[in-house]
Amino acid sequence: MLQEPNETDIDELVIRIENVENLESMIINYINSEFFKTPKKVTSLREAIIFLGMNTTQVIIIAQIVSYLFPRDNPAFDSYHKMSYLKHTIGTAVAATAIEEWLPEENKSDKYELFAYGVLHDIGVVLYEVCLPDMVDKVQEIIIRGNHPVVAERIAFGGVDHTDIGAWFCRKLNFPPNITDVIENHHWPKKIKNQNRVMYILSLADYISHLYYRDFLIKKKVEKPVKIYLPPNPLNIPDEVIEDIRRRLPDLVEKTIKIFKRF
Ligand SMILES: [Fe+2]
Ligand SMILES: [Fe+2]
Repeated sequence: MLQEPNETDIDELVIRIENVENLESMIINYINSEFFKTPKKVTSLREAIIFLGMNTTQVIIIAQIVSYLFPRDNPAFDSYHKMSYLKHTIGTAVAATAIEEWLPEENKSDKYELFAYGVLHDIGVVLYEVCLPDMVDKVQEIIIRGNHPVVAERIAFGGVDHTDIGAWFCRKLNFPPNITDVIENHHWPKKIKNQNRVMYILSLADYISHLYYRDFLIKKKVEKPVKIYLPPNPLNIPDEVIEDIRRRLPDLVEKTIKIFKRF
């Protein structure tokens, strides 16, 4: 339904969303959260979908579905591990929105959509963690030896990493290309054929979030944290802006994480 926005009957979509546990309140809380400072309080799901647009509604729904992949009763997933992963994704979402706020009017993107992409961008990690839990230990060991997490994944999986796994999942479930692009290219925004601002904003946001929440794949403390490199910055976001977002990030993450009640 979300893939065919012009043919989608909003009332029918509302009924379907109401049938999924917590989804309606999650979408409404998302818009009304302190973080977005939306000018008018949104009270109904119908209003929320019209306000957000199909693109963003689609990404939020998929992000919520992905969160259901975490087994509820497994204590291993209630640890630092899961919280750290969540903080990294919220950190990316918050940083992307903060970058967007700084951009001049002609370069603006939709902040709600950017936020939702941030939440979703690393689903490849969740997928292999849930489907191939033994591989997590293997990846951890390689990271602890001093390798970058993406390199560690490639060694462990024989040439693929979480971006390939996430993109494979998106294609298998026929997700729209805008979502697949973000999941597949957030570490290499230059690689994508139809390069766009969204991809550069997200890769920079991912970098900023990594400066704090970098060890979500590792349960142990790493002696020598791996160096993280600044991605390409063709939007010319100044260092002071990046530094300002970095400084504000932990506080913004703590405030925003409440939207995602399930965690
Ligand atoms: Fe990633
Ligand atoms: Fe990430």
